Amino acid sequence: MTPDPAAQPKTFAASEEFAAQANATAELYTRAEEQGEEFWADQARELLTWSTPFTEVLDWSNPPFAKWFQDGTLNAAYNAVDRHVAAGNGDRVALYFEGEPGDSASYTYAQLKDEVSKAANAFEALGVGKGDRVAVYMPMIAEAVITMLACARIGAIHSVVFGGFSADALRSRIEDGEAKLVVTADGSYRRGKPTTLKPAVDAALEKGGDSVQHVVVVKRNGEDVAFQDGRDVWWHEVTENASTEHTPSEQNAEDPLFILYTSGTTGKPKGILHTTGGYLTQAAFTHKNVFDLKPETDVYWCTADVGWVTGHTYIAYAPLVNGATQVIYEGTPDSPHRGRFWEIVQKYGVSILYTSPTAIRTMMKWGEEIPGEWDLSSLRLLGTVGEAINPEAWTWFHRVIGGGRCPIVDTWWQTETGAMMISPLPGVTAAKPGSAQVPLPGIAVDVVDDAGTSLPNETDGFLVVRKPWPSMLRTIWGDDERFVNTYWGQFGDKYFAGDGAKRDADGDVWILGRVDDVMNVSGHRLSTPEIESALVSHPSVAEAAVVGAKDETTGQAVFAFVILSDQATAENRDAAELAEEIRAHVGREISPIAKPKKVLIVPELPKTRSGKIMRRLLKDVAEDRPVGDVSTLADQTVMQQIVDSLGAK
Ligand code: PRX
Repeated sequence: MTPDPAAQPKTFAASEEFAAQANATAELYTRAEEQGEEFWADQARELLTWSTPFTEVLDWSNPPFAKWFQDGTLNAAYNAVDRHVAAGNGDRVALYFEGEPGDSASYTYAQLKDEVSKAANAFEALGVGKGDRVAVYMPMIAEAVITMLACARIGAIHSVVFGGFSADALRSRIEDGEAKLVVTADGSYRRGKPTTLKPAVDAALEKGGDSVQHVVVVKRNGEDVAFQDGRDVWWHEVTENASTEHTPSEQNAEDPLFILYTSGTTGKPKGILHTTGGYLTQAAFTHKNVFDLKPETDVYWCTADVGWVTGHTYIAYAPLVNGATQVIYEGTPDSPHRGRFWEIVQKYGVSILYTSPTAIRTMMKWGEEIPGEWDLSSLRLLGTVGEAINPEAWTWFHRVIGGGRCPIVDTWWQTETGAMMISPLPGVTAAKPGSAQVPLPGIAVDVVDDAGTSLPNETDGFLVVRKPWPSMLRTIWGDDERFVNTYWGQFGDKYFAGDGAKRDADGDVWILGRVDDVMNVSGHRLSTPEIESALVSHPSVAEAAVVGAKDETTGQAVFAFVILSDQATAENRDAAELAEEIRAHVGREISPIAKPKKVLIVPELPKTRSGKIMRRLLKDVAEDRPVGDVSTLADQTVMQQIVDSLGAK
């Protein structure tokens, strides 16, 4: 029997009760449409506290260099913390910290204000001031958020480097930003075991990072770490006697707030620069409307790490600016058991949960009995980010975690966009599994062909943004030219995001994945050339090509094809052992997240006559498909040689 289409809803509308209380209304779209930039000015005035009100909304006289609210002044930390205390909400919990081993701590807004002020005073005493860069290499502990806010408070620019990155990756980011201070921890916990961070900082600074004057170290797990006299100081020692009084520095709306490095299409990561007023406006607006935040009653939990942009916008800034109570969790979802996420939801009564499709797919694999053991009735809204969510995972999330009652928001955005750009509005948009759906009010998104012409529905093309938006990146740190070329080179006056997309018959946007040399593994952005250069830095590797192949759990997985050096070939080592050594090498050079799932040793790589590697053919092999058109290869037998060599193993 053919299923009745009416019985298989394509979309999921929020319940009437939800819609009746929702922050978002359909009128937001019309208002944004009618008012243009003034819409954002209203949001900026309503959602933020300004020391000096702005009079100019947007200066786009020198595209693509946007200036939003540029004659206004404010302080991000004041907005995130102090003003809630001033408004009488000092006793509200700002942060619930849950450590991986099960220890916990909570900070009210009043306590957070004291901690941020103490850290701000301590950093200033170490010689850090407005405009200085501070590298933050920390686990997911409250001090990471406190550090970011303390930097914002004094006008220093934080540059958070994901704690999983290697010493080399850390050093190159410290050097590019010329950081004066590094804030780190002795270590953390991962899957029940203590890990270390400080030794990577030492290794990074041993070979360079000459701009660094001090390293502040949080004692998290008590691991023995080396200290360099005069340079290294303990967090608890420098903050212990620091004053809880600190006057926030008055920042211009366009003063930099942070740099965050992200992988691009070349080996060198890009330092994405975000400024203060516009960034906070869009962060707060989206957090309020897309998550339907009710600060008095909600408990919000975003499972991201502060090392990524999600942890910046939707942990360190937006929730606090909006006065929310949020949970931060140090560890992995399976430690000490596979129900850890749901235990946390139950323990804190989490009502809004923001996570990644990879996490959802992993938990799907573990089985629905596990979440079934916990009380998830506090949840009322679910969100996903980082990669497309396949409809099966969406439906599982909706049914098993959301009990069929929670709207799901699939939010598309990027490090560069600073905040969400495309997402359903809960209570307004009926959700369609797998599609990020509608540009948010005030955001002008389009799908275009390679000449930049807008495409009709149901046609694959490139995702672009047509108009400047408040939280857009302002430049690539120290490299305006690269900023212009990377994002505005292709379609002139439109920002090109690097993603393919199409609109369906209803006009809803479906993200089709990256169209450049960027891979997306578990929602982490990895650069093809960056991994290739790590591979060829191994003495046994002569040449390497990397592709992102479809993976059921992680979205994509890294497959590396390598040609061995003559010496390695002569040594005739066990291939599996050598492949494992090469994988580990990439883990050390970049990060464990960049480790190829498979390293395949091949006799040749498919190249065109001009020497360009045809990665698309390698992708066919990695995805176990018949190999496509080889007619442009210099040597058309290469693919056969590769297939044969792999088949033989
Ligand atoms: O390819 C898109 C994918 O993640 C990329 C941005 O990665 P990053 O800068 O690390 O930021 C991730 C968190 C905002 C995008 O170019 N992406 C992000 N969200 C989605 C997505 N792909 C599909 N659907 C999404 N909701």
